[in-house]
Amino acid sequence: MSLRSQVTGCGAYLPDRVITNSELAVRLDTSDEWIRKRTGIGERRVAAPGELTSDLAYYAAQRALASAGMSGSDLDLLVLATATPDNTFPATAAKVQARLGMVRGAAFDVQAVCAGFIFALSVADNALRLGQARTAVVIGAETFSRILDWDDRGTCVLFGDGAGALVLKAVSVASPGGRFVLSNHLHSDGRQYDILYVDGGPSSSRGAGFLRMHGREVFRHAVQHLSAVIDEALEANQLTAAEIDWLVPHQANSRIIDAMGRKLGLSPDKIVMTIEQHANTSAASIPLALEAAVDDGRIKPGHLVLMEALGGGLSWGASLVRW
Ligand code: ACO
Repeated sequence: MSLRSQVTGCGAYLPDRVITNSELAVRLDTSDEWIRKRTGIGERRVAAPGELTSDLAYYAAQRALASAGMSGSDLDLLVLATATPDNTFPATAAKVQARLGMVRGAAFDVQAVCAGFIFALSVADNALRLGQARTAVVIGAETFSRILDWDDRGTCVLFGDGAGALVLKAVSVASPGGRFVLSNHLHSDGRQYDILYVDGGPSSSRGAGFLRMHGREVFRHAVQHLSAVIDEALEANQLTAAEIDWLVPHQANSRIIDAMGRKLGLSPDKIVMTIEQHANTSAASIPLALEAAVDDGRIKPGHLVLMEALGGGLSWGASLVRW
C-alpha cells in the first residue's frame, strides 16, 4: 500500500508586541514610505523578553493539533524549522516535544533559514511516505528579533517573529480525493553562503551574531531560483499554472512575490500575502500565511496550493499540496 501525507491541521502564533514602520523611523534614518515601497512591509511582531522560539513553536503546534482534533500524544514525528533555536543544542524541537506531551517517535530541528519550512515539510513527508511515522507536526518558528542589528536600517526593518505549524497524517493513496502533499523540490548553492549569513555562532565566535545581507544580490538570486523551482514543481506533477488555486510564497519582499505571480499569470487575489502585517518571519512565514488563508476560508479542502521559499545558504525549494 502506497502512503502519502495529508494535511489535517493548521495553526499559528504571533507575539503580542507590534512594531510599526513609523516606530522604527523615530530612531533610524528610514521611513514608512521607503519600507512599504521597497518591501511591502507595514509592521512586524516581536517576541517579549523571555519569550523564546520554543514558546512560539509550542503555541502554533498546539493550535494546529487542536484544529486536527488531536493532541501531542498522537504524534510520532516533530520537525521544527528554525534558524533561531533557544540554545545551540539540544534541538528546540526536543523542548516543544516535551511540552506537547509527545512521548514517542522523534523530534529534531531543520535549518534552511527562510526556506526551512519547505525543507522540514519535505523531511516529514518522506518519513510518512516511507512508513517511518504515521502522524507528524511540521513547525516553522523564529525569533529573528534576537539576531538583528537594530542600528542597521538595511536589515532590521525587514524581519519579524512568529510561528506556524501543519499536522500531517499518513493516508493510503487509494483514499478518495487525492488530498496530500504532491511533491517537494529542494536546492542549495553553498557558493552563495556570504550573501546572507549571521556573523556569529558556536564554532566561529562566542556570540550569537547579527544577520548580514547583500539585499540586492539575494533579490536577484531569489527571482531566478524561485522561478525555476516553480517550473520544476509544476512539470513534475504535469500541472499548469492555471490549475493553481493558491500561491503561498515565503514573505520576504512583495516585489519578489509580485514577480512570481506575474510569471505564473496568477491574478493577485490568488496570492496569499501577509508581509504587510508579519514582515519576513523566515521559516514561519509560509505556515503563518497558510493559517491566515485557511482561517478566513480562502484555502479549502481539494485546492491546489503552491508554496515556494528562498533563504540563506542559499537554499530554496517549492512544495505542491492538494489541500
Ligand atoms: N530606509 C531607507 N533607506 C534604506 C533602507 C531603509 N530601511 N535600507 C536601505 N536603504 C538605502 C540604502 O542605504 C541605499 O542607499 P544608497 O543608494 O544611498 O546607497 C538605498 O536604500 C538602496 O539600497 P538597496 O539595498 O540597493 O535597496 P533595494 O531596492 O535592493 O531593497 C531590500 C533592499 C529590500 C533588502 C531588497 O534588496 C530585498 O528585499 N532583497 C531580498 C531579501 C530576501 O529575499 N531575503 C530572503 C531571504 S531572508 C533569509 O533567508 C533570512
